[in-house]
Amino acid sequence: MKKNILIVPGDGIGQEVTEVGKSVLVKIAEKFGHEFIYDEALMGHVAIEATGNPLPDETLAKMRASDAILFGAVGHPKYDNDPTAKVRPEQGLLKMRKELGLYANLRPIKLFDELLGASSIKPEILKGSDILFFRELTGDIYFGEKGRKNDNNSAYDIAEYSRYEVERIGRKAFEAARTRGKKLCSVDKANVLETSRLWREVIQGLAVEYPDIEVEHQFVDSAAMMLIKDPRRFDVVVTANLFGDILTDEASQIAGSMGMLASASVGDSTGVYEPIHGSAHDITGKGIANPLASVLSAALLLDISFGLKEESETIIAAVDKLLKDGFRTRDIADALTPADRILNTEVAGIELLKRI
Ligand code: IPM
Ligand code: MN
Repeated sequence: MKKNILIVPGDGIGQEVTEVGKSVLVKIAEKFGHEFIYDEALMGHVAIEATGNPLPDETLAKMRASDAILFGAVGHPKYDNDPTAKVRPEQGLLKMRKELGLYANLRPIKLFDELLGASSIKPEILKGSDILFFRELTGDIYFGEKGRKNDNNSAYDIAEYSRYEVERIGRKAFEAARTRGKKLCSVDKANVLETSRLWREVIQGLAVEYPDIEVEHQFVDSAAMMLIKDPRRFDVVVTANLFGDILTDEASQIAGSMGMLASASVGDSTGVYEPIHGSAHDITGKGIANPLASVLSAALLLDISFGLKEESETIIAAVDKLLKDGFRTRDIADALTPADRILNTEVAGIELLKRI
């Protein structure tokens, strides 16, 4: 198979982890006889520094021209404490999602057995947890009108959803539930929000078309509690943009560390595959970031964008083997991990390639 893959490292540890993610793609192409052609582009803070724009036109053009994108992270602490900054790295991310029509963000929360002890949740509550989140990614309060009024003394962000937007993400979630445990939990705040009442109405309508799927509706506050209390009761979860952002960070603790979680953003055109963690400037340049989320993002890319199941499973098996052999990055190591098994980013990558 011949494919063009665009690498967009972005900011902070994005650079370090996508390097390992790419090396895994190179190894897979070699092993299975594919021809992957790579290009690279700037986004986020690094793009602002170079061009003044967090998503330069050149990057967007390269994105549209590629078959899939392996993405790192964007962000920089200098903007976080400057609420007045007009240009921000995150604007590039949101624009990319909108421009590429990436309305469905898949976040699989899969717990590797070896990491049962890495979570702060009790192993007996966690064991066997396997959740697939569908977070809507191009609507909601993220993209509605926003502004200041009353002489800069009030601010507003409008949350808006159309039936069409809810239906297309809903369908993807129902279809996925069919290939898994046939359970779907739709999360909203329909007791308060009008957008959530429309959301629930549309999901209820879809449920009639999928009689084989057991559907439940939960309010977001209760879902946040149930995720920690009894994560095994969830199979596929579908929710709006803001709720999905918050719940998936929470759910990352089921998998032990954010450093283990990959995501896929798909929709109308080229798919984007990225860790759910951010740019993590506190550890940038120290070489200690966990590259496995980027590696698992590469596995999702091969599976979802290219349909290469065996190749994708080969990567997941290698991650499993690395963990079974006792290797850990710092974020997933515990008091019992021998010092010589705690790897830095680069060595974790080298050890992983040996297992592919
Ligand atoms: C995510 C991130 C982004 C989001 C930020 C960086 C804008 O937290 O991908 O989850 O809120 O969507
Ligand atoms: Mn987030």
